[in-house]
Amino acid sequence: MKPLTLGVFEHLNPNGMSGATWRHPDNVATRYLDLDHWTRLARRVEAADLDFLFLADSYGMPIVDGAVPDAAVRSAVHFPSADPFAVVGVCAAATSTLGIVVTSSTVFEEPYANARRYATLDHLTRGRIGWNVVTSASAASAAAMFGRPLTPHDTRYDMAEDYMELSYRLLEGSWEDGAVLADKEAGVYADPARVHDVDHKGPYFSARGVFPVEASPQRVPVLFQAGSSGRGREFAARHAECVFLQGTTVPRVAEAAADIRSRAEAFGRDGDAIRLLVGLTIIVAPTTAEAETRYATFRSFSTDETAAAQFAFNTGIDLLSLDPGAPLPADIDAQQGQSNVDRFRPTDGSPAPTVRAILDELKARGLRGLVLHGTPDVVAQQMQDYAEATGIDGFLLESYLNPGTYDELIDLLLPELRRRGIAPGPHRRQTLRERLGGAGRHLPDSHPAAAHRVGAGR
Ligand SMILES: Cc1cc2nc3c(=O)[nH]c(=O)nc-3n(C[C@H](O)[C@H](O)[C@H](O)COP(=O)(O)O)c2cc1C
Repeated sequence: MKPLTLGVFEHLNPNGMSGATWRHPDNVATRYLDLDHWTRLARRVEAADLDFLFLADSYGMPIVDGAVPDAAVRSAVHFPSADPFAVVGVCAAATSTLGIVVTSSTVFEEPYANARRYATLDHLTRGRIGWNVVTSASAASAAAMFGRPLTPHDTRYDMAEDYMELSYRLLEGSWEDGAVLADKEAGVYADPARVHDVDHKGPYFSARGVFPVEASPQRVPVLFQAGSSGRGREFAARHAECVFLQGTTVPRVAEAAADIRSRAEAFGRDGDAIRLLVGLTIIVAPTTAEAETRYATFRSFSTDETAAAQFAFNTGIDLLSLDPGAPLPADIDAQQGQSNVDRFRPTDGSPAPTVRAILDELKARGLRGLVLHGTPDVVAQQMQDYAEATGIDGFLLESYLNPGTYDELIDLLLPELRRRGIAPGPHRRQTLRERLGGAGRHLPDSHPAAAHRVGAGR
């Protein structure tokens, strides 16, 4: 088996991804608004040779009946949250080879401003930046804060298609490689013949003019994507280089993985080149007994209220208002996010779980679905088995304790993964795209962005 791709999931929120784990006495995640919290973490992740630091984000928040539920405020479930872009430069300055992936929404950011921000960061990081393209979790509450109506689920993906088309034109279509001469003697900073106008008139977005940022090392940041509804997969297959999947059951993840790869092939892309990563929480200890104790502690931070607030964040649905003895109603509105509703609608003929069972599942496994606990050997074996059985390439590790989860990951699990030859290799000076297996710094010719490339870089 080839080495796993391993990234680290973080967000500017005091909490982990399941339960009110911020309350744990050793958890320093509550220091998420301190700069040195981020520089220390970025350095540690780089020194451990993990592939990238991922910063999640949403403008939205859990909303039930038009208000943030008290439980979400009390327990810090996806609320409060701050802007991850503010710490990207800080993490970049503290490291030299680590990839940094930051989330930006095609629903709420203007394409031109967004492209300019990523192009600048790609320069400043020397090609270590990635963009997690989202059509946004909790889109309804975010829309309300922007004073807009909620755009329907599938229309959000139609808009995202147009958004990407325009982004490619801006990032690939204005500056040729070599356009910047910076010739002080001749007085020529850039060659006007190699700087081109962009003209885009799409169904949702338009732009005309010259993109102002010089061509950056990767031009287009490495493209990540996480929505796994039907439309989400189609979008991933066309655009994404790295896709996050929810770690539900092995058959479901295997089906999603095969489906995304074959849809990518249908677009003329190499399906196997797409990195598929499952969100994973690990609980590792030197002995089984200690791992069980830590696992029980992990679960003790989840209540029905925290689980329901998390579900409301991603779907807008209040589980606590539904009949606990019945499954999710067939006509429930999933406009805000389908993956977390589909997850509880079996496709193999088995009975749909009741709302009570859904709450228990969310409490035990969180929103992302995969929690592995045990000794390093047991967890490493489970990761290996999971990757082999599903055909995925790696995991996005979601800490629930800082530094506790990182200690377990770096001091206990990684040595075991190394012993098995499946840990990520040492960092070299290269772009994030190359680190993740890309043939070069730029997107390949089979990617839709390449059609917009100008000059010799084509
Ligand atoms: C590991 C992982 C990380 C994610 N990170 C984000 C994020 O940072 N921001 C966001 O809006 N959605 C994120 N999502 C996606 C949402 O959960 C949700 O699926 C999506 O926004 C709605 O699209 P869908 O209906 O196609 O699933 C993530 C999903 C996974 C599995």
